[in-house]
Amino acid sequence: MPRKIFLDCDPGHDDAIAILLALSSPSLSLLGISVVSGNQTLEKTARNALNVTRYLHSDVPIALGASKPLKRSRLNCGEIHGESGLDGFTFPEYDLQYEKRDAVTFLKDTLLSQDKVTVVTTGPMTNLASALLQYPEIIPHIEEIISMGGSTDKGNLTPYAEFNILADAEAAKICFDSKIPMRMVGLNVTRKALVLPEIVERMDKIKTHSSKMFVALMKFFNKTQKEVFGLDGGPLHDPLTIACLLDDKILHFEHMDVDVDISDSITYGQTRCKPNKESYIQVATGIDVNLFFDYIEKALRSC
Ligand code: RIB
Ligand code: CA
Repeated sequence: MPRKIFLDCDPGHDDAIAILLALSSPSLSLLGISVVSGNQTLEKTARNALNVTRYLHSDVPIALGASKPLKRSRLNCGEIHGESGLDGFTFPEYDLQYEKRDAVTFLKDTLLSQDKVTVVTTGPMTNLASALLQYPEIIPHIEEIISMGGSTDKGNLTPYAEFNILADAEAAKICFDSKIPMRMVGLNVTRKALVLPEIVERMDKIKTHSSKMFVALMKFFNKTQKEVFGLDGGPLHDPLTIACLLDDKILHFEHMDVDVDISDSITYGQTRCKPNKESYIQVATGIDVNLFFDYIEKALRSC
């Protein structure tokens, strides 16, 4: 039976490839998507999620979530993802038909209708935190949470904090402290999954519907990552949360306690990780980059 997953995201170039990977894998069943303000405003991340899914011939429901964090003011990242939040590829015009229910209600209803669902987050964790606060009865229906966020070492938006956590550390703390089995996929591994020019060239040779989108988006993503961070390729952070469900050799995890800093200080948003074999949280500490891109290629060849 395919593994049932629910994706909360803020597309975003790397979120878009996470969606592609989820939709193209027969071993996964994507029950729903919710979107959150993050890489761009909610209106833009919602349109981007709809464009990507409809371009990939999927009618998976997309529910609108939080337009701002639980407590702090809104933080977006247009310098990386562009004005639209997904610059570089022009999608056909699709009807903007979203799920009628808001993200928290849709996530709650989806989880209560299933025995066990893996909840994947690749943006600020506001929607999941709100659902846990409002509907604690969903907890037994969550097989595990897999989140792109945090880092065992340096941040990206600040020296201490990674963007998804920095954007709403209070929400992240609620999720990390929930005692739900969780896997954190942080910058310490995702920074190694760079879409180097030779990777773009390799995927450009595939010439499928999906590879056309991939190549165009990655060319833009690489340009801004070079300008902002001086990287030779954009780090494919988010798809690793999906890839680790496809092959457990792609990421190596270690059980750790993770303390999310919500102090009113320079370390706000830091994820302090401490090894603990008893912890319900596992933190990614190793990555097989070549195997990961083999799965990206396999996905691009399939759709
Ligand atoms: O820090 C990287 C994360 O922030 C990724 O999920 C990216 O899409 C942005 O949301
Ligand atoms: Ca993201």
